[in-house]
Amino acid sequence: MFRQAVILSLLVILANIQGNQAVDYTVTNTAGSTAGGARFAAEIGEDYSKQMSSAATDFIWRVLQQPNAEDRKAVDKVSLFIDDIDGVAAYASNNEIHFSANYIGNYSGDLKREYTGVLYHEMAHIWQWNGNRQAPGGLTEGVADFVRLKANYAPSHWVQPGQGDRWDQGYDVTARFLDYCNDLRNGFVAELNKKMRDGYSDQYFVDLLGKTVDQLWSDYKAKYAQ
Ligand SMILES: *[C@@H]1O[C@H](CO)[C@@H](O)[C@H](O)[C@H]1NC(C)=O
Repeated sequence: MFRQAVILSLLVILANIQGNQAVDYTVTNTAGSTAGGARFAAEIGEDYSKQMSSAATDFIWRVLQQPNAEDRKAVDKVSLFIDDIDGVAAYASNNEIHFSANYIGNYSGDLKREYTGVLYHEMAHIWQWNGNRQAPGGLTEGVADFVRLKANYAPSHWVQPGQGDRWDQGYDVTARFLDYCNDLRNGFVAELNKKMRDGYSDQYFVDLLGKTVDQLWSDYKAKYAQ
């Protein structure tokens, strides 16, 4: 009894030192009878999905500089689903990631690469802060695509650096802008994300980079205006 308690305490201490409580991943293909669900099973599969979920999580913790459990959301399980849904490639909510079987079924190009890129984006939503829902939606999507960009899974149809109309347009446009900001200050996106734990203000850009986000956006546009 006593010895078990000691061993258990040691394991708990060890887990805390590593700051790395294990995350459990499940993958459920609810669309197995559709063409896209069958293509998922044949060309991607559950094992690959679990491996890449774990790899994406490690990568995101590194890019967002969240080495310790107390820096992160308290998530111990992420559930992936392949569902018969339309309209989006995938979405994340409540520690679940839902992929569209139709998107997988209809994708032409390197399916595994695309799937993995979307997975990095959605997994970023699991771990990033959104300023208690006060952050602009475009910024939240931009941080998720910044993660995808840094993981080298940006697809070829993305805008090029300098393109887009607004800093908070979202997705690739905002990801490219955040990459520019991150070049001005290494770790900028991680620090911005940390500030977004409890709330959001455009002032965070001034705090970190000494310029308003509007000034940064016009500097960014000017840099690529040739
Ligand atoms: C392609 O998408 C359509 C509409 O969402 C769907 O009905 C069809 O089954 C998909 N094709 C494949 C091969 O998944």
